[in-house]
Amino acid sequence: MLATDTLKQQAGAYAADLVQSGMRIGLGTGSTAIHATRRIAQRLTSGELRKIRAIPTSRATEAAAIELRIPLVSFADCQRIDMTIDGADEVDPALNLIKGGGGALLREKIVAQSTDRFVIVVDESKLSPRLGSLFAVPVEVVEFGWQAQARFLESLGANVIMRRNGGELYRTDQGNLILDCNFGPIEDVQELASMLNARAGLVEHGLFIGMARQVVVAGAAGIRVLRAEP
Ligand code: A5P
Repeated sequence: MLATDTLKQQAGAYAADLVQSGMRIGLGTGSTAIHATRRIAQRLTSGELRKIRAIPTSRATEAAAIELRIPLVSFADCQRIDMTIDGADEVDPALNLIKGGGGALLREKIVAQSTDRFVIVVDESKLSPRLGSLFAVPVEVVEFGWQAQARFLESLGANVIMRRNGGELYRTDQGNLILDCNFGPIEDVQELASMLNARAGLVEHGLFIGMARQVVVAGAAGIRVLRAEP
C-alpha cells in the first residue's frame, strides 16, 4: 500500500500538469496542495511553463511560492484566475467539500470564487458519502462575541471545539479564531451553509458547495478524476 504522502504527491503533480503557460493560477494551502505548487515551480524552472502569475491562498503558501520563485500577482492586477489547485478535508459525491483544516478557509474561498476552474487534490481517504462524516466544519469567527457564535453553532447540533496551537488560541492569517464544529453527517449542507452565511460575527465557514469542477483522487489503484455535473 502506498503511503499517504506518496498519494498526495501524485494527486498534486497530476493537477500541476494541467496548468498551461500564460495562466493566472491560485495556489492552495496544505500538505497536498504544496506538492502541486512544487511541481509548478519545477515546470517553470525547466522552461516547460512560462508567463505564470499566481495568487496564494495563505501566508504559508505565499512564503513557499516566493522561496520557489513562482511569480505572484495580487487581485489588484488580476480579475479572473484561470485555475486554482487546492486540497480538501472531505469530499462528497456531488463534489461539495469541507476545507479549512489548515485554517486558510477564508482566503481559499475568496480565491476559489474568482476562479474559472477549481481543481481539488486529495488522497482517497478524503472521499465520503456525506460531509461531516469524517471531519469537523471549521468556522472562522471574530474574537468579539465568539462565545455567542459557539452557542449558536451548538444550537445547530454541533459539538464545538476552539482550535488551539499548543497552549495558545489558533489565529488565522486575518487574526481571527477558528471553532471546529463536529456536526456528524450533515443532512442538508446547503441549508447549513445558508444559516452560517447569515450570522454576524461568523466570518466564513469551511463548506465549499458547488465550487469544485474537478477532484483529482490518488488511491492504491492510481489516479481518478471526478468531474462536477455541467
Ligand atoms: C487549508 O486550510 C485546507 O483547506 C487544506 O486544503 C485542507 O485542510 C487539506 O489539507 P491537507 O492536504 O494537508 O490534508
